[in-house]
Amino acid sequence: MGSLLKLTDTTKQFQGLRAVDAINLDMKENTIHALIGPNGAGKTTTVNMITGVHSVTSGTIEFDGHDITGMPTYKIARLGIGRTFQNIKVFPTMTLLENVMVGGHQCTKLGALRTIFDIRGAKREEEMLKEKAENILKKLGLYELRNELMQNLPYGRQKISEIGRAMMTDPKLILLDEPAAGLNPSERGELIKVIKAAYGEGLSFFLIEHNMDVIMSISDYITVLSFGKLIAEGTPQEIQNNPEVIASYLGEKYKQKMAEE
Ligand SMILES: Nc1ncnc2c1ncn2[C@@H]1O[C@H](COP(=O)(O)OP(=O)(O)OP(=O)(O)O)[C@@H](O)[C@H]1O
Ligand SMILES: [Mg+2]
Repeated sequence: MGSLLKLTDTTKQFQGLRAVDAINLDMKENTIHALIGPNGAGKTTTVNMITGVHSVTSGTIEFDGHDITGMPTYKIARLGIGRTFQNIKVFPTMTLLENVMVGGHQCTKLGALRTIFDIRGAKREEEMLKEKAENILKKLGLYELRNELMQNLPYGRQKISEIGRAMMTDPKLILLDEPAAGLNPSERGELIKVIKAAYGEGLSFFLIEHNMDVIMSISDYITVLSFGKLIAEGTPQEIQNNPEVIASYLGEKYKQKMAEE
């Protein structure tokens, strides 16, 4: 299988701190690849480097055959990478449909200027975005709720809608930063269904997540970070049984889980 996303000795240094320390990661095409590890391990920083939000201190990042190291975020998005954020970013007083449509505006041609000089063209574009957002909402099982205000929807639905927004640019890969955080078990089930369905249609996912049930049920391959360093990689089975991962991360997780049950 070909490589979709490849990090080579990728490093991010913030002043004195090596938040991500020379990691090597090779994500294959058509997979769900998870990135796990304790708080502060460097997971979000990794996603921010992949999407061009943070510059890379050293090393390289390749996506789909392109060297994207140092590229501006909009170009990386155009090449086919979408993302969601660790902290929910929705417009509470806009409808669900409008929230999803927002994801498409960045890729329409001239934006605001065009709207002023070519009202008819802009309207056509808006119609196209609307139709696209409606189709995505159908796929996510949220179409019936399209005209609800975001703030009136349960948190789990709001989180899933962010995946829909990311889908508006027709990405090949979506980076999800803790999509299951704050979701109840039934919402987590919904999320898993949505990710699996999109995966079935050809989308790949790079998934940061602390919830082990979610990770273990959908990942093809897992990379583990701790204090900026890659400490293990392998299949869910291999990771669950890796002594170093258990010692530095999973041990504490399982203790937490036992305490909750
Ligand atoms: N913009 C920044 N400036 C300085 N330090 C930062 C910055 N962003 C992150 N860090 C530091 O880099 C380290 C890695 O942070 P990061 O957010 O990538 O961790 P994470 O693995 O996503 O953790 P969590 O599971 O809590 O979300 C942390 O020590 C964090 O404090
Ligand atoms: Mg994070």
